This record gives sequence, C-alpha cells and structure tokens, in this order.
Amino acid sequence: MIVISKVNELEKAVEAFRIEGKSIGLVPTMGALHEGHLSLVNRCRRENDVVVVSVFVNPTQFNNKEDLRTYPRTEEADKALLAEAGCDIVFMPTVEEVYPEPDTRVFNLGPVAEVMEGAMRPGHFNGVAQIVSKLFMMVKPDRAYFGEKDFQQIAVIKQMVKSEGFKLQIVPCPIVREADGLAKSSRNVRLSPEARQTAPNIYRTLRESIDYAKSHTVAETQKFVTDTINSYPDMEVEYYQIVDGITLMPVNDWNETNYIVGCVTVYCGGVRLIDNIAYKK
Ligand code: PAJ
Repeated sequence: MIVISKVNELEKAVEAFRIEGKSIGLVPTMGALHEGHLSLVNRCRRENDVVVVSVFVNPTQFNNKEDLRTYPRTEEADKALLAEAGCDIVFMPTVEEVYPEPDTRVFNLGPVAEVMEGAMRPGHFNGVAQIVSKLFMMVKPDRAYFGEKDFQQIAVIKQMVKSEGFKLQIVPCPIVREADGLAKSSRNVRLSPEARQTAPNIYRTLRESIDYAKSHTVAETQKFVTDTINSYPDMEVEYYQIVDGITLMPVNDWNETNYIVGCVTVYCGGVRLIDNIAYKK
C-alpha cells in the first residue's frame, strides 16, 4: 500500500495503473474508519484492479466550526485498517494541498440538495461536491463507492456527476450497523454512555414503523416515528421525512412511487445522528 499526500503524486501513481489497463475504484472518506467504511473498501476491492481510498476531513463541507475542530482523527489506525483491507493507494493530503486557493465553485445540485440535510446544513452539499469533484478529477475512477447511511449524499453526488459530465459509476452500499442496530458512524464516539444506550432506539423505531406503515398513512407513520423517538430521554428528532428514493421529494401516499425511504436526524444527548430505512424498494 502506498501512502500519498501530494496531488501530482496521486495523479502519477493512478495514471501508471491506468496505462496498464487496470480498472480504478475510489472510496472517499474523512477517516476515523470503522466497519461501515471498510465495507465500501471491501466491495471496491472485489470490483476493481486498483483500490484508492482518500482520508481527508474536508473543511468546506462543515458548516459548524466546532464539529470540524472536534472531528475524530485517527490516521495511524486508519492506515493499518486500510493496509489490512487490501487498499493499494491511500491519499492523505493537507488542506493546503487540496485547496491551494479558496474553492469558490458553486455546483448545480438541483432540488435533491435543497431538502432535509440541505435545508438544515446550508452549504454542506456544495462543500461535498467541491471535494468529491476534485477527487474524481485527480483519480478519474471507473467506480466510486458511497454508503447509504448518507442517503441524500448519494443522490446529490449522482446529480453532480450528471451536471459535471463525469464518466464513472456511483456504487451505493448498504448501511453497516452495530449489533444493537445503531448505524456505525465516526461521530458515535462522541456519545456519552447514556446516549449510547438510548441511540439504538432510532433504528428500532424505524424498523417498527415498517409494520405500522402497513395499516397507516404516510402522515401517520411520520408522526409515529417522530413521537416514539422523542419519547425517549435526551432524544430529539430534527426531522423525519418519508421521501421518494430517487427525487427525495416528500411522498403523500404509499402507492405514489415504488421506491420510498424514511430519513431521520436525531439529536441524541446533543450528538447529531442520521439514519434511514426503505419502506419500498
Ligand atoms: P465519511 O462520513 O467518512 O463517510 C465516508 C463514506 O462511508 C460515505 O460514503 C458514507 O456514507 C460511508 N459510511 C459511513 N458510515 C457508514 C455505515 N455505517 N455503513 C455504510 N457506509 C457508511 O461521507 C463522507 O465521509 C464525506 O462527506 C465524503 C463523501 C468523504 C466527502 O468529504
């Protein structure tokens, strides 16, 4: 495994593989790697000749300075996990290397970037588009891997690929969970022991709502999930939206479309957690 911190070295290393006719897979991450990230790396390993993983805490996607400052950084452990997972190239640049000048690009991300996370975290998805587009230009991968944990992020990146004309395949990968159902996240380490105990109620409630939905309307199901999660101590739902899995527009009736996903954001003991579940797929 080669560890690279310079953009021109990354471009050269990948180009050498491409000239040999090898397929290139990319897994963008912000590090503090866990089994969720590694499931993407494993899938990438199976489907490509060369696996490139980026580890970069991208400042332009943080709209909260404190969140950026306290984001977990575990570079040495990340390298060890990636070597073990069969990664070929790790790209770990500095902020100055990626952004020698401020990135002022504004992307056409369309309506999928306006709702939910887009409404709650202004500028967040434009920052994601800035870093992911830079990585796509540097690596020119055949495939790039993203987790369904960040369900809306995948829709936004697909839109960015379309509007920028990138030629690559976006591969969505299923959510990896703890044994108790909590979606794995780098931010879970911030949970207090009490918050960590109640956090699995998010996914438990989402799962229960699948049954509930069979005999209730979309609006009733939305209320059921919100009220149930809010009834636990130190849990507060920021939003629960039941949306079309492609357009991310709110769904009013279960028969309206054949791909329906519920997306939730919960403050759990002050830590912001996200999760989602498919009602129809
Ligand atoms: P990060 O939060 O580090 O996540 C990197 C990738 O791992 C994302 O595609 C995310 O959806 C996926 N992932 C995280 N937890 C997961 C889980 N429990 N199961 C499955 N996949 C999971 O998402 C980002 O970084 C950034 O926005 C990035 C795309 C790297 C741009 O900076």
